[in-house]
Amino acid sequence: MKDREPIKALPPVCDPVNLAIPVRFLSRAGAGSGGRGEKVEFGEMKPKDARQQEEYVRSLFAFLASRYDFVSSALSLTRTKHWRRFAAAKSGLKPGGHALDVGCGTGLFTFELARIVGSTGRVVGLDSCPEMLARAREKCARTPFRDAVEFLEGTAVELPFPDGSFDCAATAFTLHTVPDLEKTLSEMIRVVRPGGRVVNLELARPRIPGLKQVYSFYLGRVMPFTGRILKRLRVGPPGFLEYFARALQELPDQQEMQGLFSRLGLVDVRCYELDGGIAAVQVGVKVESGARGRDQHCGACNGAGVQGSKTI
Ligand SMILES: C[S@@+](CC[C@H](N)C(=O)[O-])C[C@H]1O[C@@H](n2cnc3c(N)ncnc32)[C@H](O)[C@@H]1O
Repeated sequence: MKDREPIKALPPVCDPVNLAIPVRFLSRAGAGSGGRGEKVEFGEMKPKDARQQEEYVRSLFAFLASRYDFVSSALSLTRTKHWRRFAAAKSGLKPGGHALDVGCGTGLFTFELARIVGSTGRVVGLDSCPEMLARAREKCARTPFRDAVEFLEGTAVELPFPDGSFDCAATAFTLHTVPDLEKTLSEMIRVVRPGGRVVNLELARPRIPGLKQVYSFYLGRVMPFTGRILKRLRVGPPGFLEYFARALQELPDQQEMQGLFSRLGLVDVRCYELDGGIAAVQVGVKVESGARGRDQHCGACNGAGVQGSKTI
């Protein structure tokens, strides 16, 4: 790692002007300025293209930024903290390593990666939402990781880094919001050095009978219903809970995601289910040039760091 060129920050790829989906709540949230006056509510939102979806998601997180840490912890009964730590432990990172956190938000996962690489390492957190990044930077200044961490604005589908820049490209709770899942993963693979890892922590589909039904009911009924109440009370962006529910439903489940990792060329691909499959972590290794990798791993978990985790 020592002889590697420092990673250069390229200009952000997102153009913050010309929002394709101006929405009424933006002025209420103080999140930014509107655009062409077309009224689009999140719950009914069918993005025309990738750019429109990115703008939509960016506006949504601009609204959530100041509440994100509390909501993330409260909704999961603090489990997200343990899941992030578990995922970071699967990154293969060592002190002095270089890591990328895609969709870093307020930095919760970035700091877990930074804890591993230490003061001699480097972690770049990338996000398309300036408001989330502002929170991340504010918090970072108060941590012991401040010299090892950098936050950049950019898009997951076009990572502004040269090939092979990192020992690990990781992401947490972000893939359900990106406009092109395969492109994002391909970009993450591209920026990792051969032998490095790609890690994804995401909400998943519980497979335990009972929990599975409760989860589907929650996503399919409770979230949209709560969303409609919040909309009536004019709390938050109209339809944002319906949007999240739909995005999570449309995301490949943990096994499909594991398959996608393999299909995109990663080897030794593993999937760890956490807390009965409410969340899952996929880990894949970028193939060493000239080396033949092992196939998808389906054996017993030998590295569980979170109670209730298991490989599938
Ligand atoms: C649910 S938050 C997750 C934040 C953080 N990783 C965590 O562990 O809490 C998703 C983040 O992904 C970012 N995001 C969504 N789509 C993105 C994209 N296309 N490019 C970059 N960041 C994106 C959002 O702005 C948001 O901060």
